[in-house]
Amino acid sequence: MEILFVASELAPLSKSGGLGDVAAALPAALAARGHAVSVVSPRYGSIDPARHGFEAVHRAIRVRGEPASLWVRRRGGLAHYLVEHEHYFGSRRGLYGDQQHEFGDNAERFAYLCRAALEVPAAFGLRPGILHLNDWQTGLAAWLLRHEHADDAVLRSTRSVFTIHNLAYQGVFRKEVLPALGLPWDVFRFDAMEFHDRLNFMKAGLVFADALTTVSPTYAHEIQTAEGGEGLDGLLRHRRRDLTGILNGIDHQEWDPATDRHLPAHFDAHALAGKHACKRALQEELGLPARADLPLVAMVGRLADQKGMDLVLAALPDLMRRELQVALLGSGRRDWEEAFAGAAREHPHRLAARLGFDEGLAHRIEAGADIFLMPSRFEPCGLNQLYSLRYGTVPVVRRVGGLADTVQDFDGWKQGTGFVFADYDPRAMLAGLRRAKEAFRDKRAWNAMLRRGMAQDYSWGRSAARYEALYDGLLR
Ligand code: ADP
Ligand code: GLC
Repeated sequence: MEILFVASELAPLSKSGGLGDVAAALPAALAARGHAVSVVSPRYGSIDPARHGFEAVHRAIRVRGEPASLWVRRRGGLAHYLVEHEHYFGSRRGLYGDQQHEFGDNAERFAYLCRAALEVPAAFGLRPGILHLNDWQTGLAAWLLRHEHADDAVLRSTRSVFTIHNLAYQGVFRKEVLPALGLPWDVFRFDAMEFHDRLNFMKAGLVFADALTTVSPTYAHEIQTAEGGEGLDGLLRHRRRDLTGILNGIDHQEWDPATDRHLPAHFDAHALAGKHACKRALQEELGLPARADLPLVAMVGRLADQKGMDLVLAALPDLMRRELQVALLGSGRRDWEEAFAGAAREHPHRLAARLGFDEGLAHRIEAGADIFLMPSRFEPCGLNQLYSLRYGTVPVVRRVGGLADTVQDFDGWKQGTGFVFADYDPRAMLAGLRRAKEAFRDKRAWNAMLRRGMAQDYSWGRSAARYEALYDGLLR
């Protein structure tokens, strides 16, 4: 099959969260299964394409009459195309905004990405059977395929898949932007892209794509409810027959404790000494006392409402009295960054807070921690708990979305890979942590649990096969 995959992030070139990881790994897994996959993403200012083996193709396409250049890199069945636009992408460092604000022209920027992506097949001799879109930044392409490209020789029979990675970000804009996007007012209807008198890019994907997916079975169910639907549950219920939940995988090469280039020592399920060395090194790196006997509880992620950091902040006074250490790596909400930084200054031997984005440290935390905490309010899939399982770090998670689908609660005896709590409440989270801390004291039970986690297979193979089956069904 030929697949055209469009995403606004592509790790390691650009990444704000799990979307970047998925856009790198899923196409690679599909290519490894024998498909020809082309991935289109922006060339942000932070990316130096030449350094990553890309070559420029000048004036390769035209977008609304204007010539545009692309950067191309081919590796076997996998091709990456980076769209060049100095003003929209090249001149800025942030993906969607700077530290304080979203960029004011995101509608124009991502409409441009969608249009450019659909010009790639004709310019490069592709004939994609499937157009696979991801999140709001690419939603418009589902409409463009059916309208602006309905008669194209190369896209006429292309079917589209739209994957929801996070329904909370929908790309909602003032309707007045429509003419500037080159869209007819006709799209501004309740059964198209209108949403409370505004323009909704995510909705374009949900209405016009042939098939919809999201990144876990439980989230697929949650987004059809008023509670989890972010105002789009009615539409998602309407399209429920076209909606599937397919769990994300993880890149087993990039995230392998036996070979990870970011780690000071290596380990696997049969030889855990390297994990203890990683813990010691991490404590040193973070300025925490090198105590093997204390459980080290870690968090890595965006400090956004979704991630449940308000529960952690509410529980901090209690946590700081317990015999444990806490490490946080994250960035996002200013008030939360300040609260964690303040608490770390107050409890330097108990809490380390690193504010910012640091890929290497994220790996070292996954390897060196004992417990990984994810008290998410909602979580479409979540990759960090999967990395934790692979790195012998026991997840403590709230029972939502992909967390519910990937972590099995410890039964106190012989089953389970982590600790799962239900209520969105600091006490419920603390109770989960208390259970984890008790189990940590019983080294045999703990090591058995950690090995069960390490034996789980969340590599991309299985998930890629499910996407393949979905594409197949659409093309038949
Ligand atoms: P989300 O996509 O909602 O942010 P995921 O768990 O799916 O959550 O993916 C988050 C990804 O981003 C993981 O690969 C995680 O390691 C990474 N990440 C998040 N915040 C940071 C950070 N501050 N530093 C390094 N990596 C981070
Ligand atoms: C989103 C979700 C996260 C998911 C990721 C990749 O950002 O918040 O749960 O793992 O996308 O699909």
